[in-house]
Amino acid sequence: VTSPIERNEKLQQICHLLSTSIEYYDWVGFYFANHDTKTLHLGPYVGAPTDHTVIPFGKGICGQVAESNTNFVVPDVSAQDNYIACSFTVKSEIVVPIFANGINIGQIDIDSHVLNPFTVEDERFLEFITAQVATLF
Ligand code: SME
Repeated sequence: VTSPIERNEKLQQICHLLSTSIEYYDWVGFYFANHDTKTLHLGPYVGAPTDHTVIPFGKGICGQVAESNTNFVVPDVSAQDNYIACSFTVKSEIVVPIFANGINIGQIDIDSHVLNPFTVEDERFLEFITAQVATLF
């Protein structure tokens, strides 16, 4: 069993590793779901600080993934109506849900300053990462 402190350290390390290894991963963070209040809560992240530490289910790309239980790849954030802007430098985003025992417990969220950088390989790679993260819960 992983303690909450140890888990957050590992999540922080994952954010650091991803953001330093892949040049178009400019902001890397985790949000975790509270299913009672139907809100997402910011966890460990690397990148510019964000005001959006709590996101209601359904709001923005992250909130939509909390409800859809599927990956959301956004090649161009300016084309999205239901989008929460964290920084004007962000051009694209990918969000991949984390499933623990079949429940969508949160997500990894990556912002890029590059337009349309995310491929199906990013999806498969991040699904692998989220499966590893799920083992911490
Ligand atoms: N852009 C996200 C909000 C989180 S920030 O990217 C860190 C969204 O639309 O849900």
